[in-house]
Amino acid sequence: MQTLDQIVAAAHAAFATAIDADALEQAKARYLGKSGLITEQLKTLGALPPEEKKQRGAEVNQAKTTIETALASRRDELKRAALAARLAEEALDVTLPGRGQTPGGLHPVTRTLERIEELFRSIGFAVADGPEIETDFYNFTALNTPENHPARSMHDTFYLADDSGQPLEDILLRTHTSPIQARYMEAHVAATRHLPTMPEIRVIAPGRVYRVDSDATHSPMFHQVEGLWVGEEVSFADLKGVIADFLRRFFESEDLKVRFRPSFFPFTEPSAEIDVAFMHGALTGRWLEIAGCGMVHPNVLAHVGIDPERYTGFAFGMGPDRLTMLRYGINDLRLFFDGDLRFLRQFS
Ligand code: FA5
Ligand code: MG
Repeated sequence: MQTLDQIVAAAHAAFATAIDADALEQAKARYLGKSGLITEQLKTLGALPPEEKKQRGAEVNQAKTTIETALASRRDELKRAALAARLAEEALDVTLPGRGQTPGGLHPVTRTLERIEELFRSIGFAVADGPEIETDFYNFTALNTPENHPARSMHDTFYLADDSGQPLEDILLRTHTSPIQARYMEAHVAATRHLPTMPEIRVIAPGRVYRVDSDATHSPMFHQVEGLWVGEEVSFADLKGVIADFLRRFFESEDLKVRFRPSFFPFTEPSAEIDVAFMHGALTGRWLEIAGCGMVHPNVLAHVGIDPERYTGFAFGMGPDRLTMLRYGINDLRLFFDGDLRFLRQFS
């Protein structure tokens, strides 16, 4: 059997070699636990005669106190070591140079979109939007472009397919923002049906649109801003005035070169396309088409329940990506969507 001195010495050694709090608690159990060596010693006291019991009891208690003191000091030591390790790990060298913050900036097309919204809001236009995944009905049929109409081939449409790759005939990525015209007019008619005179519609609708298209002035994903003004006595002269005024304010230029070129859209009559000449960059002097426009076709008005004998309106769909090209003199619009920071940083 071990002597008390041996037990105390063994406990000291066990505590000293315990490398963390868990190991220390296990070592403690071996000496001070319910069936630990010191506890066993205490249990034997009962069988001793009174004199011997007193003497032996004092010795065992002394040994127990010594072990408890050793345990407490080792606990402290381990705690300090753990703290020191954590501090070392989380240490910050405040003398290192800072990493710096890269200043962000808005994408040039986003800037253009915000500018367009601001300018149209200032002349009383609301701002609406619509779904990018559109039905064939709103993208074409409601816009006076029935099935098999040759004008459908003016747009190289991305159709959607089901899980097995089977094309879904009636759902597509919208090819223009014009479906919002039909959606907005329908909602407006429903909301104002009870009034004797339909309040004017004056709205723009910016958003992403998609076509199977890619060259310096065409991107498969691009932006359009639809515009629509419907009321009594809205004329082509109003269309020209609103567009000319907008362009002068957008480009902050009084001598901007703008031309309206006769064109065709199934949903407007008459129709025109609008070109603006580059004022800076390699393409200076060259024309770039920025929008299609025209007087809303009577069939489109009738389709949404607006009386074309009483109300007229104009609509336009312009390309903010192209406006951004003109504004900064950029000769390839695909640069906007490549995500090359060397290009984008120039605008922030
Ligand atoms: C249309 O999309 C008609 N919905 C516009 C319209 C609206 C006419 C309302 C009448 C009334 P168009 O296909 O021309 O028309 O496109 C309009 C403008 O979008 C173009 O002038 C051009 O600025 C821009 N655009 C067209 N395709 C692309 C493309 N692939 N990438 C970038 N911009 C494009
Ligand atoms: Mg066009």
